[in-house]
Amino acid sequence: MKNQISSLQEYLKKYQESVDDPKKFWGEIADTFNWHKKWDDVVDWYFEGEDAPNVKWFLNAKLNITENIFERNLPLRKDQIAIIWEPNDPKNEVIKITYGELFEKVKQFANALKNIGVKKGDRVAIYLPMVLELPIAMLACARIGAIHSVVFAGFSANSLADRINDAKSNVVITADFANRGPKSLNLKSIVDEALQNCTSVKNTIVLKHNGEKINFESPRDIWWHDLIKNISSENIAEVMDSEDTLFILYTSGSTGKPKGVLHTTAGYMIYTEYTFKNVFQYHEGDIFWCTADIGWVTGHSYIVYGPLLSGATTVMFEGIPTYPDAGRFWEVVDKHKVTQFYTAPTAIRSLIAQGDEFVTKHKLDSLKILGTVGEPINEEAWRWYHNLVGKSRCPIVDTWWQTETGGILISPLAGITPTKPSFATLPLPGIQPVIVSPEGKILEGNSVQGNLCIKYPWPGMLRTTYGDHPRCYKTYFSTYKNLYMTGDGAKRDEEGYYRILGRVDDVINVSGHRIGTAEVEDAINQHKKVHESAVVGYPHEIKGQGIYAYVTCAKLSDAEKLTIEKEIRDTVGKIIGSFAKPDLIQLVNGLPKTRSGKIMRRILRKIGEGDATNLGDISTLLDPSVVEEIINGAKVEVKR
Ligand code: WT7
Repeated sequence: MKNQISSLQEYLKKYQESVDDPKKFWGEIADTFNWHKKWDDVVDWYFEGEDAPNVKWFLNAKLNITENIFERNLPLRKDQIAIIWEPNDPKNEVIKITYGELFEKVKQFANALKNIGVKKGDRVAIYLPMVLELPIAMLACARIGAIHSVVFAGFSANSLADRINDAKSNVVITADFANRGPKSLNLKSIVDEALQNCTSVKNTIVLKHNGEKINFESPRDIWWHDLIKNISSENIAEVMDSEDTLFILYTSGSTGKPKGVLHTTAGYMIYTEYTFKNVFQYHEGDIFWCTADIGWVTGHSYIVYGPLLSGATTVMFEGIPTYPDAGRFWEVVDKHKVTQFYTAPTAIRSLIAQGDEFVTKHKLDSLKILGTVGEPINEEAWRWYHNLVGKSRCPIVDTWWQTETGGILISPLAGITPTKPSFATLPLPGIQPVIVSPEGKILEGNSVQGNLCIKYPWPGMLRTTYGDHPRCYKTYFSTYKNLYMTGDGAKRDEEGYYRILGRVDDVINVSGHRIGTAEVEDAINQHKKVHESAVVGYPHEIKGQGIYAYVTCAKLSDAEKLTIEKEIRDTVGKIIGSFAKPDLIQLVNGLPKTRSGKIMRRILRKIGEGDATNLGDISTLLDPSVVEEIINGAKVEVKR
């Protein structure tokens, strides 16, 4: 395959070239794509100064990303399977769709969107389960230059409304129901509730997925199948500028509401294809399966864009790993002869807990490469994955990246870079990471630890946060001058290998879902009996981190005391989504605060970790006695 590195030596050489002459390096890769017009310059950028950050790749070039998926690949791959869709219920039919068929559906839906007035630059919210219509809708938007904003179908009505309003979306695409294991979820009712607070939305397009009755409000609501009736699939792609927006995707940070991370066309395209081919060493005939939901960036980049741009066959799974039983992943691997399998450590840990026999009864002989993403993988999980799933013959790629980075930044190249458990190893070509001390000093050499930053732009990086450019600067570029700050701590070991240590800010990573502690606190505080709350992450055997909430309440009756915890959890479920419900809730009389009223989270974090031996100086607290009370009532065992 073009642009694919095949040895360690070649990696080292390419890496050096990418640092010495980034324009030449990326320009050569970009040459293998289809353009209406080529660029005037490869990159123009500054992280500091007026309107910073300012990052532009492939300046003034013209293209359409879907032409690079379809028109570019079709001569070779018209009848090749593009997507294998595996249903929630294994008794239902698998759908295999070729590049040729997918192209027809994308163009037809693109025309249908145009018919209801969707045009270039409009923001289309997509709230769908893992069905084929999800990538079809995304690619149809890209075809006509509309900006997709996919919202994970596990978010609540309130979170969906926030995202629709922030982006001022005029169309929402959804389905009647989502199937998840033994449950089905009425998505349309969630959209109806959200839309009570959204004035920008003119139409919702509703996919009939499981066919049960739903509330339907014509003319606002239009069935997907009615919308495409008699619509032609003749469609000419909108010609886009390199830096036109491709999509926005909301993600949580330390403060405030989730931000719309914005990615543009050419850079994201080149970066996702390049990283897909190289990290996973995709070869002709391979079957790639990423188990993420397309509602997160992992699904955007490595179910949809990376694989389809590369002309790969990608598996899309509607269900969950434990339905009908904990062997489902491995059953699907055997069924579709999956060669590359990419999942999250939390999924691995939850399957370890179910017992080895769910793995060992499957052959798994098609597997060549295993990948992980989303959180640090502990050594035990790494070994289980390597030995039991990969039969000690499949290299593991521990891929580190973020919604903001668009694609993988630090990872082994499968089978090429020697691996070490729990190390993301080395930066990909084009990526220049640095480790920075808290004072902002770049720590040179090996055996250093600090904050992970990136000092040079790469094509797949975010360009802004939607509707609020100063917030983008403040969040990622203001901490250290001229550096993109990732928010992760990392160490570079004696060999120069990177190990990601986790977030250094108030973001927690629960089962690979990124959640801002401030968001959870805001949600908890909406319960009418709650005065105040402080949320921290604590080590959780399966989820990586769990959510620990310390809460002060108004006086509660005995009856209220029995139900308050459940009510608080339900409040969070309603405001954010079930995945953000606290695992532990401790009712306390007071929170540890400084004299100026700031909550000392450091202390609460320590207690959550079960370690009160080294709380530091607490004499400056407004009321030091609350600490003793919190330790005594802690929901975890605390060492003193
Ligand atoms: C955060 C980004 C884009 C991947 C899906 C999550 C953590 C991600 C790893 C890894 C250790 C990892 C980081 C990062 N993370 N991959 N291989 N090892 N930590 O995307 O929701 O934007 O979260 O996930 O803390 O900052 P996200």
